[in-house]
Amino acid sequence: MATSSYTIIDHTHDVVVVGAGGSGLRAAVGLAELGLSTACVTKVFPTRSHTVAAQGGISAALGNMGEDHWSWHMYDTVKGSDWLGDQDAIEYMCREAVRAVVELEHYGVPFSRREDGKIYQRAFGGMTTRYGEGTAQRTCAAADRTGHAILHTLYQQALRHRVNFFVEYFALDLLVHEGRVQGVLAWNLADGTLHRFRSQATVLATGGYGRSYLSCTSAHTCTGDGNGMALRAGLPLEDMEFVQFHPTGIYGAGCLITEGVRGEGGYLTNSEGEHFMERYAPHAKDLASRDVVSRAITIEIREGRGVGPRKDHVHLHLEHLDSAIVHERLPGISETARIFAGVDVTREPIPVLPTVHYNMGGVPTNHHGEVRRVDDRGRETIVPGAFAVGETACVSVHGANRLGSNSLLDLVVFGRAVALRCGETLKGGARLPSVPDEVTDRIVTRFDTLRHAKGTEPTARLRERMQRTMQTEASVFRTKETLGKACRDLDEVRRAAVDVRLSDHGLVWNTDLVETLEFENLLGCAIVTAEGALRREESRGAHAREDFPARDDNTWLKHTQATLGDDGRVRFTYRPVRLEPLTSDVASIAPKARVY
Ligand code: FUM
Repeated sequence: MATSSYTIIDHTHDVVVVGAGGSGLRAAVGLAELGLSTACVTKVFPTRSHTVAAQGGISAALGNMGEDHWSWHMYDTVKGSDWLGDQDAIEYMCREAVRAVVELEHYGVPFSRREDGKIYQRAFGGMTTRYGEGTAQRTCAAADRTGHAILHTLYQQALRHRVNFFVEYFALDLLVHEGRVQGVLAWNLADGTLHRFRSQATVLATGGYGRSYLSCTSAHTCTGDGNGMALRAGLPLEDMEFVQFHPTGIYGAGCLITEGVRGEGGYLTNSEGEHFMERYAPHAKDLASRDVVSRAITIEIREGRGVGPRKDHVHLHLEHLDSAIVHERLPGISETARIFAGVDVTREPIPVLPTVHYNMGGVPTNHHGEVRRVDDRGRETIVPGAFAVGETACVSVHGANRLGSNSLLDLVVFGRAVALRCGETLKGGARLPSVPDEVTDRIVTRFDTLRHAKGTEPTARLRERMQRTMQTEASVFRTKETLGKACRDLDEVRRAAVDVRLSDHGLVWNTDLVETLEFENLLGCAIVTAEGALRREESRGAHAREDFPARDDNTWLKHTQATLGDDGRVRFTYRPVRLEPLTSDVASIAPKARVY
């Protein structure tokens, strides 16, 4: 038995949180505040989590820059989601937003300020007043380093509340017995020991899977580890076909240039110098929602109006803005543009291109963060012991397309919601049921097999094949042909992966093994993404099918749930979108055409 050749160290906690980005830390802080013993297991040092890269801000209807109301924010989010978002969860998020931002302020987040000391808020795509009439300035900013400010503050709070951190521990798999999630098995990268964390509740907060594509704004660590673990545990992933392209990744490098640039007055042009968004979204222009702007840029390039020698990108201008404002509000992107595009933003435009940015899909949860699934008879059930939050989860508040600055909000609102739910349902120090040895053995056997793999295919080659397939076949625009090819090519990659070769067979800081484990997680995500996209025969939000250009509410106003078998087969169930809000304070927002 492989297990006998490893040192396994046992830990028990009331809750184990996997991941230390904004959502994991916010959950951990709340859990510790409630007196629950909390472990936070993370493969990177907490302040290196990808939340650190979030730039433009966090939305909340504070009304500091003009009139605003949470119900307008809710309307924008439902519309932005192309009506695939669940309105109960969206109501919860938008109502809670104001309290969440004030709480962050009290925790110590150094927000940018107005002259009068109130938090500064900027305009962002799709954010309006009075149900689409005006432009809302709703996005609370700490210059263009808002994620950095929030992440560091939450980490300080976590230390203050004595969260138990296990840093540079790679989570291998969930401990699941008789349908209950009972913790996680993790590998300590520094000394090679394995650690069995048993808990009453396990919170997946591992971020997205942007790295299943070749070009993305996501860190190299965004490898869908929580989603991969969920799939291997037989849990479904929801709405994975919805992958957001951010309109303004730096051409070539892919680094994010915040939407805050357009919020501060920046605009896009094509090779004719035309401010082309005026044609695609006459009202919102450059501040239309991201799916709309990304498609517009792609069409401009396809029709020969791209810029540069290959005519394969467009220009983002901020040279016309007051350089003092740029210096004060956009210092981060000025530096990024200089380093990665060689551009002085006060004099020249930035070359940009739509780049994979965010996964709307993930582990399905309710608005308490509890993982839910649909059984074969279409009944919805809660998976005992399992929570998910942040980009790993699909609550679903973003539906088919997320509005910019709703992500940082999602992290903190639902991170807190998870903590509150655990506070209501768990008893600190309760005895934990034992986990049979076979459960650990299965996980260790997979780990050991990969560690000693001596085939012919290096992980890097397999990963690149997957990434190229996703980049070309499951892109901004898709068709039956491209997606069918994606599914076939990914299946070939899956078969080839059986013959993977690792060159490092050690246990201490074996990055070859880390990358292989990450690749397996990414591949599972990629397969359900492509298969789900092939099946969804309509266009909605970020999922733009050229062969089915219209949204089809009669057939497709429903969430996809996909599970992945060991044989690579994907099984689908569907659940209806929750069109009813949480309370009777607001009315359901009925589906209609999205016009910007
Ligand atoms: O454009 C940005 O600053 C990104 C924000 C977001 O994805 O929410």
